[in-house]
Amino acid sequence: MATASEIAAVGVIGAGQMGSGIAQLAAAGGCAVLLLDADPTALSRAVISISASLRRLAAKGQLSQAACEDSIKRIRCVSAVQDLRDADLVIEAVVENEAVKKKLFVELDKVTKPSAILASNTSSISITRLASATKRPSQVIGMHFFNPPPVMKLIEIIRGADTSDEVFAAVRSFSERLGKSVICSQDYPGFIVNRILMPMINEAFWALYTGVATKEDIDAGMKLGTNHPMGPLQLADFIGLDVCLSVLRVLHSGLGDSKYSPCPLLVQYVDAGRLGKKRGVGVYSYGHRPSSVRP
Ligand code: 3HC
Repeated sequence: MATASEIAAVGVIGAGQMGSGIAQLAAAGGCAVLLLDADPTALSRAVISISASLRRLAAKGQLSQAACEDSIKRIRCVSAVQDLRDADLVIEAVVENEAVKKKLFVELDKVTKPSAILASNTSSISITRLASATKRPSQVIGMHFFNPPPVMKLIEIIRGADTSDEVFAAVRSFSERLGKSVICSQDYPGFIVNRILMPMINEAFWALYTGVATKEDIDAGMKLGTNHPMGPLQLADFIGLDVCLSVLRVLHSGLGDSKYSPCPLLVQYVDAGRLGKKRGVGVYSYGHRPSSVRP
């Protein structure tokens, strides 16, 4: 099993916002990065956005020009799980769906070297259950990054029931090597951050749904009254309303308490395809806005 200093090659699966950000961090941290996505358009978009992000950091003097260009060169785009055979650590950031992730872990277990650590960036799915899809549950762990990964200072590490102390120590040191602070959560629904964040977002939806206030006032209240960088409804749009709903459903079913039951307005927005900023419309409109379902 690789120690933190031996983690030289990192596989990142999923070239969306989270996967791109994680790939950027690993490349800037000196690792060879294999960025995997079945969609070539997603891969080219990711490389453009990572390059732009690293060059912005170089322009601001936070990274030398040479380090910036070297980091970009360290990222190789690949399209098959087999291409990750040499990775010391694989971090998956694919869609938040347990069946999809489990299938991926089964494949990863077959193709990666026996010493490789397999990590999931899941927001709330049980690491223990993902680990059970493999023959190396002691080498499976949660590495929960926050959006946008290059900016947010935290990685929440989740220990599955069988995650070994060695794997935990390696992943903690590796996260620190990326410049992040680390917190450790046991494997219970929502872990630490989403267990607390999502009920707040849900409550903001209830406040909007029951007419307590306008969306602007709910957000301004939490931004100006509690110094949050974004109001909860704006943050929900930023995270993705589908992701918020999926985490709330995991909390509701996993903890069995009606206080986690998703607000009907959140459910309706997701049903209507109003998934937030990524779709141009959520609680707020970012350009295109469908005519149905208005708050
Ligand atoms: N990639 C790289 N850098 C970025 C970036 C990105 N995607 N977005 C913003 N930045 C950088 C900017 O370049 C800027 O850097 P500088 O200060 O050195 O110039 C800095 O971040 C601030 O950006 P902006 O001035 O454009 O905008 P803001 O000051 O409004 O900050 C924000 C943007 C960092 C997103 C801030 O609004 C924020 O912190 N929002 C809350 C984000 C949050 O809570 N994220 C966690 C969500 S929960 C989650 O992800 C878990 C999941 O499981 C649900």
